[in-house]
Amino acid sequence: MFQNIELAPRDPILGLSEAFRADANPQKINLGVGVFQDEAGTTPILATVAEASRRIVASQTTKSYLPITGAPEYAAAVQELTFGAGHEVLTSKRAATAHTPGGTGALRVAGDFIANNLPGASLWLSQPTWENHGAVFAAAGVPTKNYAYFDKATNGLAIDALLADIRTMPAGDVILLHGCCHNPTGIDPTSAEWKQIAAAVRERGLLPLLDFAYQGFGVGIVEDAAGLREFCAPGAELLICSSFSKNFGLYRERVGAITLVAANAKECAAAESQLKRCIRTNYSNPPAHGAEIVKTILTDSALRTQWEGEVAEMRQRIHAMRSLLVKKLAEKGARGNYEFINRQQGMFSFSGLTPPQVDRLRDEYAIYMVGSGRINVAGITAKNVDRLCEAIVAVTR
Ligand code: LMR
Repeated sequence: MFQNIELAPRDPILGLSEAFRADANPQKINLGVGVFQDEAGTTPILATVAEASRRIVASQTTKSYLPITGAPEYAAAVQELTFGAGHEVLTSKRAATAHTPGGTGALRVAGDFIANNLPGASLWLSQPTWENHGAVFAAAGVPTKNYAYFDKATNGLAIDALLADIRTMPAGDVILLHGCCHNPTGIDPTSAEWKQIAAAVRERGLLPLLDFAYQGFGVGIVEDAAGLREFCAPGAELLICSSFSKNFGLYRERVGAITLVAANAKECAAAESQLKRCIRTNYSNPPAHGAEIVKTILTDSALRTQWEGEVAEMRQRIHAMRSLLVKKLAEKGARGNYEFINRQQGMFSFSGLTPPQVDRLRDEYAIYMVGSGRINVAGITAKNVDRLCEAIVAVTR
């Protein structure tokens, strides 16, 4: 039965980790998958996560199923983190949150929800966007289209082209925006631009879907939610796909959430019931441990304060590596001005390296990055930055 099945291509991001692991070069550098690494090149378990995990294991009394949408206490904690305590969407009871296996799980549930409940809707993706977005929505049967985002000339946001594209989108379509720390470009709208985008989306009658995977990695935990909150005007509808892989370092625990905001409480209840059908026919109900960790940390004031400090530390390390990269590239005599890298936010830098240059870095220097030229800045350390910059200078000469 399987004899005619063709070999699928490697995943453009996770496939890099497989290739990196197989590389015997002791000087290899992994700037591929978006995973935080500390100065020693390891991805640590946060102290708050270890403590919460200990408490949960010591006190849990059952391994019975969770509800289809996960524990209500987790949903409440996620909503408070996303909107801020006392936000109108919460007091009006027009938001529903379901715990999903990671941010990717949230996106797939969103895809199924759109396919089942918004017939005919297309989903618009920024050009460029996360490599997996198109495939996730295609798997759910949602057609995708692209809107302008990146301005190569300025290494900035193509705001005029973006707004012009929004004005051509048919009412009833869905537009996916990155809540902060755009993946892969690291370029986020300013607060004035978020207001313009939200107004254009509203005027056009589009449903915004916010992919929110890096809260706290840009400017701060509250600041990074400001763009998203522009879409929460009274009566406005939206979908949010959150991930806690990065800001809690819970990658392998697969903990995320989908939040839908409806115009009012009645419509919210109906939409949530459809969300539950999507989940039940996919993975039935979510795995508990990661979400219990997130809930424990967010609802314990000492752990929460400590966690906010841990997020700030990760953010500051990434900012420091960004500046170091720019400085070292200049010192090593790199062609051109890489100052734009300092203006990017989050874990990634869109380096401008071309696919052939990325291939040479991998094949000749054992330096791994995504084909688009996306660098995981958290993979840079004081130890590997010289070798990295010398290799970049060599392949761009
Ligand atoms: C990334 O963009 O590298 C991360 O979101 C990990 C992934 O699943 O691709």
